[in-house]
Amino acid sequence: MSKIEIKNVYKIFGNNPQSVMQMVRDGANKEEVLEQTGHTVGLDNVSLNIEEGETFVCMGLSGSGKSTLIRHLNRLIDPTDGEIFVEGTNIMSFNKEQLIDFRRHKMSMVFQRFGLFPHKTVLQNVGYGLEMQGKPEDERDRTAMEKIEAVGLTGFENQFPNQLSGGMQQRVGLARALATDSDIMLMDEAFSALDPLIRSDMQKQLLDLQSELKKTIVFITHDLDESLRLGDHIGILNAGKLVQVGTPVDIIMNPADDYVKAFVKDVNRAKVIKAKVVMKKTDEANDIDKSNLIKVNEDQFIEEFLPQIVCSNSNCEVVDKSGNVKGYISNKELQTSLTKS
Ligand SMILES: Nc1ncnc2c1ncn2[C@@H]1O[C@H](COP(=O)(O)OP(=O)(O)O)[C@@H](O)[C@H]1O
Ligand SMILES: [Mg+2]
Repeated sequence: MSKIEIKNVYKIFGNNPQSVMQMVRDGANKEEVLEQTGHTVGLDNVSLNIEEGETFVCMGLSGSGKSTLIRHLNRLIDPTDGEIFVEGTNIMSFNKEQLIDFRRHKMSMVFQRFGLFPHKTVLQNVGYGLEMQGKPEDERDRTAMEKIEAVGLTGFENQFPNQLSGGMQQRVGLARALATDSDIMLMDEAFSALDPLIRSDMQKQLLDLQSELKKTIVFITHDLDESLRLGDHIGILNAGKLVQVGTPVDIIMNPADDYVKAFVKDVNRAKVIKAKVVMKKTDEANDIDKSNLIKVNEDQFIEEFLPQIVCSNSNCEVVDKSGNVKGYISNKELQTSLTKS
């Protein structure tokens, strides 16, 4: 069972969404629906599974439906049609109390514009979710201090948000989401408002935290580099349709259509693909010349050894940490696969 299952979800915005469902089902696209009915297709038959402990990145241009999708997960938006399961429970079946409980304990959200309370201190902001959970003050403060430390803000706990830089404010947002100990975190363009260097710091921090916490994270961005860095899987939305779901390497090596191709066209594949992804396994590599080999580790990125094998015109022997041979890479095939469009 997946942690989150989204099944054939449609979301139509407008006066009478049901009235246009048939048209959308029959294949009318977002533009046609808008022109003929004045309704906006937010999501068009989206199905996907998100596994426990993974970071799932949802990417797409502005207006493609990313926020609409993530808001379905905590029921800020209800679907026009389709089903959503979290840990096997259909979240549309919740009554009011169950929904409140679900939002307080199961999910936390980090927003693009930080969403901090200006008149609360860092400590109070971080402890807010715990206050909502009804936790006593001493416990709240203890947990909040732990999370403030985890995001590197110790010493700032009594400051107010406007005394902090944007990057620091977003760390507070992150600490607040971590404090409630919910196992699902929703992050809607959480780093998009930050300067590039600070953004990169935050990505690193999230990766470090996630390697310990193993939460289920749904992360939204319109930035390919951010997707590739953070995502275990990436789902790509175009005009409400999910056009591709895959690992970063799947997306880069086999873009499903022109829209995805346009995203990945300028990416440096050598920078994001590891040796083990392109190697031929030992028993399938008979055609590779082994007279002039350079040894590389399976987890090395191609860019780390590409210049060397090109200059020396050699092929690669790929080994694991203990030095066992796992496979081979042909210099020529590698260069072809890197340049294919
Ligand atoms: N409350 C709403 N009412 C009408 N249209 C909406 C509403 N929310 C979103 N939309 C439309 O749905 C589409 C998807 O929007 P959104 O999910 O916000 O995109 P993204 O987050 O990818 O930029 C857009 O065309 C947007 O205009
Ligand atoms: Mg959005």
